[in-house]
Amino acid sequence: MYNQLMNNLEEMKLYKAKELMEYYSKAVTDGEKTFIEAMSEIMIQEVKLRDERAMNACVKTANFPYLKTDKDFDFDFQPSINKAQIKDLLSLRFLENNENIVFIGTPGTGKTHLATAIGITAAQKRISTYFITFQELIAQLKKANYENRLQEKIKVYTTKYKFLIIDELGYLEMDDEAANLFFQLIAKRYESRSTIITTNSPFSKWPEIFKNPSLTNAVLDRLLHHSSVISIKGPSYRLKDKLIYDESSTESGK
Ligand SMILES: Nc1ncnc2c1ncn2[C@@H]1O[C@H](COP(=O)(O)OP(=O)(O)OP(=O)(O)O)[C@@H](O)[C@H]1O
Ligand SMILES: [Mg+2]
Repeated sequence: MYNQLMNNLEEMKLYKAKELMEYYSKAVTDGEKTFIEAMSEIMIQEVKLRDERAMNACVKTANFPYLKTDKDFDFDFQPSINKAQIKDLLSLRFLENNENIVFIGTPGTGKTHLATAIGITAAQKRISTYFITFQELIAQLKKANYENRLQEKIKVYTTKYKFLIIDELGYLEMDDEAANLFFQLIAKRYESRSTIITTNSPFSKWPEIFKNPSLTNAVLDRLLHHSSVISIKGPSYRLKDKLIYDESSTESGK
């Protein structure tokens, strides 16, 4: 009988229940728990495990470059960042309002890290989230365009992903087609989906990147209408130790 129960639990993929059965069966036999108490506790644990699995699957699907959160972020190192504003974004209220976030700053200032931290928070709440570099996104849209299935692809990027993180806009030159495809995506997501963009280019430089001032305006208009812009001015964290080394070596050289 016990073996059959174990097999059935395995068959039904109730792995946690299977693992806990021996303990709870003894607890019921010894009169420490009622049958209902035991069943209830087993099911709570089983549901918890399922939730954790679903959460982890969501984070995995999101394709983050690394799994770093706000807890890994040293706000003291980058004082130009308003910590309260980041905490507010981590509450994910902006997602309910379909607002966007733009992180602007020089290399190594934490743009990807913070975008990822917000993305992980969303994915853990099982909000469909996807992280992609601008370059990869454009490559995918161009491919779809070439294969005559652009609208299908843009639909995937608007309906499938409630939250899209586009990393590294403006790091490479853009051709006409790329600018156009990007505009189409932003226009489709406008007011119905949230997007994070990270870039090292101030908005004043965007017309140069897009090489088309009216298209740039159209993109910026939609992107910034409901948005938070976080401009990070400070040193690169990547060079943190290098800078300390330089300072100390200068001092010792005095
Ligand atoms: N304030 C910080 N505290 C802790 N780690 C940080 C901080 N800022 C950046 N880092 C770390 O430094 C590295 C570079 O940061 P990040 O990837 O966010 O840079 P970036 O602003 O996106 O730069 P780039 O424009 O070159 O892509 C990452 O490993 C990140 O986790
Ligand atoms: Mg980055």
